Amino acid sequence: MGTTRVRVPDFLARKQRGEKLVVLTAYDATMARLLDAGGVDALLVGDSLGTVIMGEETTLPVTLDVMVHHTRAVSRGAVRALVIADMPFLSYQVNADEAVRNAGRLLQEGGAAAVKLEGGRPVAPTVRRLTEAGIPVMGHLGLMPQSVHALGGHRRQRLDDAGVDALLADALALQEAGAFAVVLEAVPSGAAGRVTASLDIPTIGIGAGPDCDGQVLVSYDMLGLLGDAVPSFVRRYAGLADVVRDAARSYGDEVRQGRFPSAAATATASGAPATAGAAKDDQ
Ligand code: KIV
Repeated sequence: MGTTRVRVPDFLARKQRGEKLVVLTAYDATMARLLDAGGVDALLVGDSLGTVIMGEETTLPVTLDVMVHHTRAVSRGAVRALVIADMPFLSYQVNADEAVRNAGRLLQEGGAAAVKLEGGRPVAPTVRRLTEAGIPVMGHLGLMPQSVHALGGHRRQRLDDAGVDALLADALALQEAGAFAVVLEAVPSGAAGRVTASLDIPTIGIGAGPDCDGQVLVSYDMLGLLGDAVPSFVRRYAGLADVVRDAARSYGDEVRQGRFPSAAATATASGAPATAGAAKDDQ
């Protein structure tokens, strides 16, 4: 893994070489910098920020302005990873002209290199308009959180044979329309494997088994920041919730006991800026 920036065409090249793609969500510059340093190939500014960052129950309240704001932050933190921004609810469903204008903001103001949107055959004409405008598009099939009310909740997709055929037809329509990759969320492993084998472009799975060309997880889930409220397919690679809680407790104890700040450190640091970020800017 070098330091060369990952670009959209690299996704296809990776699939052709049989190399897995590694994607995580990010919502701010500090976390983007850390995940990028950890070698992920792409940072997805997911509209999952509605639930993860904003504390909402669904992704529906996330607006385009909010997505632009967070995408800008992630773009500042990313050095190597490709930055992909989610198009939020109603930013691409109304018509293709609006979709182009809104996706354009995520690239122009947010600094993203690509956008992601949910849906299959019904959104294929919009995907074509976006790609013809030079805006790379990642598709998203299976569990589509922006359709939470139509689906009756965030449910795993149970697919009969006709459902798998429909999933494949949607994926092929996205590929035909110019999408460079497709997320498969919460679909049975066998169906994800069939779609993956049938497409030239890579599939990126989340809760879709091991046969996809890459995997994506919500970073707060895999870092163990969300406690036990995570989907069963998530593997935790850290337990940061405990680390953060313990740090807050230790800080509180020391402030209450008069052990922080210490008189000596305060005397040495007098005149220093209040945050590490400000200190860096002043150098
Ligand atoms: O919004 C998001 O984070 C996503 C991923 C779960 C794929 O769409």
